[in-house]
Amino acid sequence: VKSLHVELADRSYPIRIGTGLLAETRHYAEVEGRRLKLVTDDNVAPLYLEHVLKALNLKEEDVLILPAGEDQKSWGNAERVLDWMLASRLNRDGVLVALGGGVIGDMTGFAAAVYQRGIDFIQIPTTLLAQVDSSVGGKTGINHPRGKNMIGAFHQPRLVLADITTLRTLPQRELLAGIAEIIKYGMLADSDFFKWLEQRLDDLLILDTDALTKAIYRSCELKARIVAQDERESLAGGAGPRALLNLGHTFGHAIETYTGYTQWLHGEAVATGLCMAADLSARLGWMTAKDAERCVKLVARAGLPTKPPAGMKPDEFLELMGHDKKVAAGKLRLVLMRGIGLAVVSGDFDRAALQATLEHFCS
Ligand SMILES: NC(=O)c1ccc[n+]([C@@H]2O[C@H](COP(=O)([O-])OP(=O)(O)OC[C@H]3O[C@@H](n4cnc5c(N)ncnc54)[C@H](O)[C@@H]3O)[C@@H](O)[C@H]2O)c1
Ligand SMILES: [Zn+2]
Repeated sequence: VKSLHVELADRSYPIRIGTGLLAETRHYAEVEGRRLKLVTDDNVAPLYLEHVLKALNLKEEDVLILPAGEDQKSWGNAERVLDWMLASRLNRDGVLVALGGGVIGDMTGFAAAVYQRGIDFIQIPTTLLAQVDSSVGGKTGINHPRGKNMIGAFHQPRLVLADITTLRTLPQRELLAGIAEIIKYGMLADSDFFKWLEQRLDDLLILDTDALTKAIYRSCELKARIVAQDERESLAGGAGPRALLNLGHTFGHAIETYTGYTQWLHGEAVATGLCMAADLSARLGWMTAKDAERCVKLVARAGLPTKPPAGMKPDEFLELMGHDKKVAAGKLRLVLMRGIGLAVVSGDFDRAALQATLEHFCS
């Protein structure tokens, strides 16, 4: 077991990474003796619920199984979780357990954040994306018909248990979507990690335990460091350290919106966005063309898309990017790179270069 700590004063918590963790009682020491309630989805329940119930000594009435899927990250289901907690008279010293991917983690975390003004919760992420990204950092929330993640709260978990054994049942596309976020960490904050990924990508793709553990550990470490600097993405008017985690995401969100959030997974859209951010950074002369090519090549080798959907036009991109959260006072800000491992947020770049990138990728 490898562990690390997210340092946030009284909101600090451990992340444990390893194989078979979720079935072992000793890994849940932080919530020992507390009353627990668990939320999961109907894909994860048949696979892992039994092990967790045994380890935590829970009964079936302590479990709520929701339907799987992004469209389930809704008010309706958050309300179901809250109703269920109230009906079972859970007190403020109760703890919610999120067992599943980012959808379950975000929604359960949100329910914990608002239940009686906030109770503890723990994360047992079962997708690679959740293990390297959504379970860490305290962003919780649900979708609204008018926008993804539009309702939410910052609420840190008390513990994150990333059991990499669970990744063996994950559909390949979901695995690759998580790899995209891992590549993102290398590109934004750590050129040595990026180099390591170039060397070990094939091991990651075959779920080699050592390679996975190392990649998840380093990803969490990089995210934890950034979150510790800027917990609520509030520094520099939202252009501070935490915004760097959105490398590739402004382009990616445009693709997700264009395709109606149904055809592309988030990580797939981010993968293409990373390529576009690298290309633009090179056009601006901020990183070498060779390094930009390394980024595109790594994404391609992972089997992730490097081009936006056929038919998407530069104008449509610009329009959809204009609706991104990172548009400050009408000015488009992007996360770009000053080299691999050196992401920066900037609204100060040549628009002609952006146009050239869009035309290049939309051809
Ligand atoms: N809070 C944050 O900081 C943050 C960061 C990134 C993403 N997110 C959110 O995370 C969500 C996406 O998370 P996700 O990619 O984990 O999606 P998900 O939770 O929908 O999981 C993907 C699919 O895999 C299934 N699944 C989960 N674990 C499995 C396993 N071990 N074996 C087999 N199937 C399994 C799920 O049932 C689901 O069908 C989005 O809603 C996104 O907004 C949040
Ligand atoms: Zn992302």
